[in-house]
Amino acid sequence: MKLTAYKSTLRQVKADAVAVFVYEDKKIFKEQITYLKKFLHNIEQIIELEHFKGKKDEVLSTITQKKINAPRLYITGLGERSSLTLEQYRRSAAAVAKEAQKAKVKHLAFDLQTTEGIINIDNDIRNIAQAIVEGAVLSLYKFDKYITEKKDNRSKISEVTLINADEKRVREIQKTLKETRVICEAVNFARDLANAPSNEIYPESLAERAKQSADRYGYRITIWDKRKIEREGFGGLLAVNAGSATEPRFIILEHNGREKNLDTIVLIGKGITFDSGGISIKPSTGMAEMKMDMSGAAAVIGTMEATTRLKLPIHLVGLIPATENLPSGSAMKPGDIIKHYGGTTSEVDNTDAEGRLILADVIAYASAFRPKAVIDLATLTGACVVALGQHATGMFGNDEELMTKLKAAGEKTFERVWQLPLYEEYEKQIKSDVADVKNVGGKWAGAITAAWFLKKFIPKDQEYKWVHLDIAGTAILEEALPYAPKGGSGVGVRLLIEFLKSWKKNKLLAKVSAEADK
Ligand code: BES
Ligand code: ZN
Ligand code: ZN
Repeated sequence: MKLTAYKSTLRQVKADAVAVFVYEDKKIFKEQITYLKKFLHNIEQIIELEHFKGKKDEVLSTITQKKINAPRLYITGLGERSSLTLEQYRRSAAAVAKEAQKAKVKHLAFDLQTTEGIINIDNDIRNIAQAIVEGAVLSLYKFDKYITEKKDNRSKISEVTLINADEKRVREIQKTLKETRVICEAVNFARDLANAPSNEIYPESLAERAKQSADRYGYRITIWDKRKIEREGFGGLLAVNAGSATEPRFIILEHNGREKNLDTIVLIGKGITFDSGGISIKPSTGMAEMKMDMSGAAAVIGTMEATTRLKLPIHLVGLIPATENLPSGSAMKPGDIIKHYGGTTSEVDNTDAEGRLILADVIAYASAFRPKAVIDLATLTGACVVALGQHATGMFGNDEELMTKLKAAGEKTFERVWQLPLYEEYEKQIKSDVADVKNVGGKWAGAITAAWFLKKFIPKDQEYKWVHLDIAGTAILEEALPYAPKGGSGVGVRLLIEFLKSWKKNKLLAKVSAEADK
């Protein structure tokens, strides 16, 4: 999709449709409608007919008069001005984009005026521009590559334009567009990987997709095959893979690997390309969803791609253990004991708690990079979905400052995270009589005991700051969100990009204030 920004007024814009944002507040609403009257002489009637009030997410579609270039005008509500958020721009833009797509609009413009009384932009215009484009682009995503009879391919929106009458603002918007395009493409890439069925995305092909991205954008990739994984002693990954006819892979991605003096951040993504549960097999209802059990891996690959394209000044490492979890005569069985990378042993009480087994090796391995922070993303537990549903990611960690930063990034991007406790009392639930730790912790607090299992693999002598994000509910959507269809959401990409961008800022601020203190 083409993303553009031009200097233009509402009247002049050359597009199939143009959208304006209005507030619900009575006085402003009236002013705005009075202005829009120039283009639609019976606008009050239309509004009355459609019961349009400028409430959140409302969209009014109208056919314009001669006085305006675009043949169609969308008026969309932002709700009350005092409670306006960036998220509302995403949602309003998404609502318009979906309407426009239905109406076979190909070129859709959004009016971001500050001068003509249409909209008073309080927030940073770059943030608003980004939110509008995110809402529009991400809401139009569809996983339809396997549908052979496409309804009408030609009717898709091919260009989204932002207009403003002020040249300087247009330049600001244009700068944002480049970055926003990269972010949206990374999100949709992660969605594509997650939604792809397991006969398309299995460990080898997942690694291949990552390699295509790495080769295209210039980040480093190393792929370990089964022999190398055996030599390195990734016992968890091998145990989970034991029942599968396809080989496992361990994927290492690296951005800015050669630069010295940059902070190292490690991202770890659960890459279970299909989770049947193994010998502790899942019920068949809903099992198909488990093709998305590599959503953590998808988020890491998407984030790596965007980080490279945006040239963010950090040393970013992505680590992805990838395997299927299947039952067979060679599969791991309940009661088996695994020796993980680093030497810690675990007792397998339930083969369906496989994510933590493959992550354990990698959490131990990550310390070799001497990271400033390690963040893992995993569709780890159904218990997290029970606790938080699909509107918040479960967050655990050993460093409050790191979690505060992620929380802020979550609020800004609306990929919200919510901290759950790692109190010591929970640890005894995963005590094993025969190994160092057991892979399940009983009936209660399943998301917490899973996080505790992971925590135990951070090497004591090389401890690092760590956050675990349980994205089981947010990555696999049972219901569509305003700008994400049902299925793989690509969650984590926008959150992490925002986090990584602010990492740089935090560092610079710290430096500035340290110098000021001298
Ligand atoms: N991949 C699942 C978790 C999951 C469930 C993700 C629902 C998304 C939606 C994970 O491997 C799993 O099966 N966890 C078990 C753990 C249990 C056996 C302790 C679970 O949550 O039921
Ligand atoms: Zn499982
Ligand atoms: Zn799983």
